[in-house]
Order: sequence, then structure tokens, then C-alpha cells
Amino acid sequence: MTEDLPTLADGIHGRELDRRISAAAAAIEQRLATAPALARPRVVAVLGSGMGGVGELLDDEPRVMIPYRELPNIPGAGVEGHAGELLAGMVGEIPMIILSGRAHPYEGYSHREATLLLRAVLVLGPEIVVLTNAAGGLNPDYEPGDLMLLTDHLNLSGDNPLLGPNLDRFGPRFPPMVDAYDPALRQAALEAAERTGVSLRQGVYVMLSGPAYETRAEMRMYRSLGADAVGMSTVHETMVARHAERRVLAFSLITNKATDDIEEGANHEEVIEVGRAGAGRLVTLLGDLLPRLRE
Ligand code: HPA
Repeated sequence: MTEDLPTLADGIHGRELDRRISAAAAAIEQRLATAPALARPRVVAVLGSGMGGVGELLDDEPRVMIPYRELPNIPGAGVEGHAGELLAGMVGEIPMIILSGRAHPYEGYSHREATLLLRAVLVLGPEIVVLTNAAGGLNPDYEPGDLMLLTDHLNLSGDNPLLGPNLDRFGPRFPPMVDAYDPALRQAALEAAERTGVSLRQGVYVMLSGPAYETRAEMRMYRSLGADAVGMSTVHETMVARHAERRVLAFSLITNKATDDIEEGANHEEVIEVGRAGAGRLVTLLGDLLPRLRE
């Protein structure tokens, strides 16, 4: 790692960022040591607004639950619909960590801070990262409740988690982002959708900083740039996961239409409510898919 330069406003970069990630990783490792089967997770999933139900996928025993506030350096997930806890458990033979709730850049966190917990979990070695979010549907064919598999993304959030001195232990200075959403995992997700009868769309997700929802002109612009869904998360997590050469699979739950002919714009209550209702289908799909990720 190159010498820290005091150039980034939050002061959390380079060695300081690395130190914070290590301390959080050590705390998680210590708690998981009480259940040795969970110590080396293979998969980590991050849950979006209203999707806490995905935690049902974990077997009852063994399980470890850690509220984020009990971990050092982890920004709390202070938004309604986000539990703010790390759950570890088995899905069949696969040890898994579920991050229920995430810190969002719109709360004021830099992308480095907002991805600190995910990076701490990556230290434990999971090869697969499953990301979920609630999103607005820019594609006029999309309806609230639809599930979309991300095929690609646009980072229009104004930040990047890899800015600053490179953390060489995770990955290279200039990581590729082509095929960031793992083609083989996407194929496996499509097959799981087929088997379970869950309908799954495929499209491009654009990340914005939020917190304001889009104007009609912005909706038209993002659509014309090639995006199918719009949201305020996920892409920064994809970037740290790909930097570390982990395989990424991501899903959007479309909670509202984001087309310029809508009568009124999205509201957070609607996003949470549709999120809860749609999470059941995501659980069904992941329940079929995850136990098959053994090889
Ligand atoms: N825009 C941005 N983020 C969102 C939306 C939206 O319409 N719905 C859920 N998250």
C-alpha cells in the first residue's frame, strides 16, 4: 500500500481503512468461533429494504446473530426496514452470512465507509456475494413486485469505494468490472427461477446517491442511458467484491414504477411494503439456488 495521503474528506482510507476492516473482521471471527461450522462462510448476502425475510433460509442450528452496534467501526443501519444485524448460519451444507441492513451513502457515508462491513466479511473468505435491493422500475414493462436479475450496472452515484490508496491485500489498483455479475451464477439463478416458477427479469441497475427520488426528466435520462432499474445501493458493494475477485450475483425487487408517465413519485412506505411482499419470492428462489452452489 502506498503512503496515506490526507486527500479524502472522511479520513477513512488507506491504513486507517485497513485497520478498521481488520478490527471488525477480528470481532466477527471471534463471535463465529463459538460455532465452528460457521467460521468459514462460503456465501455472504446483503439484504435490501424490507427483505429481512431472507434470514428464514438459514437452518435453526447453529446460528450466530451479531447486532452491528456490537461490532467496532461499523456504521449503524439507521433506516426503517433495515434490521442492522449480521446473521450466520447454514443453508444445507453451505455456511452463509446474511447482512440484514446496510449503511447507505445517502445517510452521509462515503462508499469506503458504507462497504466496510462487507469488506470485513470478505476477509473471512466467502467466494460468492449475493446483493439485493429495492429499486424503481425505469423499464416501462416492469411492475411493482417484479424481481430483476442484474446483468450490469451504471455507477452514477458520484463516489467509488476504491478511491484512495489501494488496499493491495484485497485486489489490484485498477480492477476490471466487465461481467461484474457472474455469468455462470446468473445462469444458475435463471435455472432456479425456472424450477421454482418465480418469474425473473434481467436488466441494468443504475446507482444514484439519493436520497431524493428522481424527477421525470431524470427518469427519462436514466432510461435513455440504458438502465432498467434505479436505486441507491448495491453498485459500491459489487465494486469491492469484484476488486477482491469474488463472484457477484444481484437482484432488484421493483417496488415502484419510475417512468415519466406515473401519477405520483415513489414513497418510502410503499418501497418497504412492496419489499416485504416480494421478499417471499426472493426467498423461494434463493432457497433453491443456494444449496446448489456447493462446487
Ligand atoms: N428511485 C431510487 N431508488 C429507489 C426507488 C426509486 O424509484 N425505489 C426504491 N429505491
